[in-house]
Amino acid sequence: MHGEDRGRLMVALDVPTFDKAKELAGQTGEYVAHFKVGSRLFTAEGPPLVRNLKESGYGVFLDLKFHDIPNTVAEAATAATSLGVDFFDVHAAGGTDMMRAAVEASGEEADRIGVTPPRILAITVLTSMSSTVDEVLALAERAKDAGVDGIVSSAWEAKAIREALGTDFLIVTPGIRPAWSAKNDQRRVATPQVAIANGADYIVVGRPIRNAESPTEAARLIVEEMAPAEVRK
Ligand code: C5P
Repeated sequence: MHGEDRGRLMVALDVPTFDKAKELAGQTGEYVAHFKVGSRLFTAEGPPLVRNLKESGYGVFLDLKFHDIPNTVAEAATAATSLGVDFFDVHAAGGTDMMRAAVEASGEEADRIGVTPPRILAITVLTSMSSTVDEVLALAERAKDAGVDGIVSSAWEAKAIREALGTDFLIVTPGIRPAWSAKNDQRRVATPQVAIANGADYIVVGRPIRNAESPTEAARLIVEEMAPAEVRK
């Protein structure tokens, strides 16, 4: 298997309990470098689950989409950094000062405890909503100016963002639907190959893996499907 492609798949652990999260992680872990822990699972199981995933050797993307006054987001960024996550996210709509506060607080906490700071992603527009490329580009530019490491956006905008903001900026794309899966409530969907060809560094996949008859096989297929785009680059 192509090592880099395994590294590109982030699986959303959108399940209600610690045990279900560990089950899905166990089924797919061979193909996944990072698991995304979102608001439902984190509200239910919190830091012990994140620590458990880290102890099992997985990376964690803490997807709590912080959006509050700068001081509160800075404190949340400090907490996420001391918890040891690899990625966390903030809403770009929260503004430049809010994003900058997250970057500074996370950097200071990482220095204080002697770790590499987590990478901070900005949410542009949720993939369940409609938006124009111009809106997404404006938010992405604001995020880059504020010093965040990358953005979460649909694969549809990834190409324009890559062209406008260059290679030194991470693009993470949810709303991924392989040809063999259902679309659910996602509007701006793309296949894994298209997302990677459009410049995504990571893809986030939830239901196509979680609801598959075999999550292991679904994860394997997705990683395999990403490889051809990689070869074409
Ligand atoms: O199940 P599905 O593959 O649609 O899951 C997508 C995941 O990505 C969900 O956890 C959702 O919260 C998340 N997400 C998204 N759009 C964003 C940011 C995160 O769908 N802009």
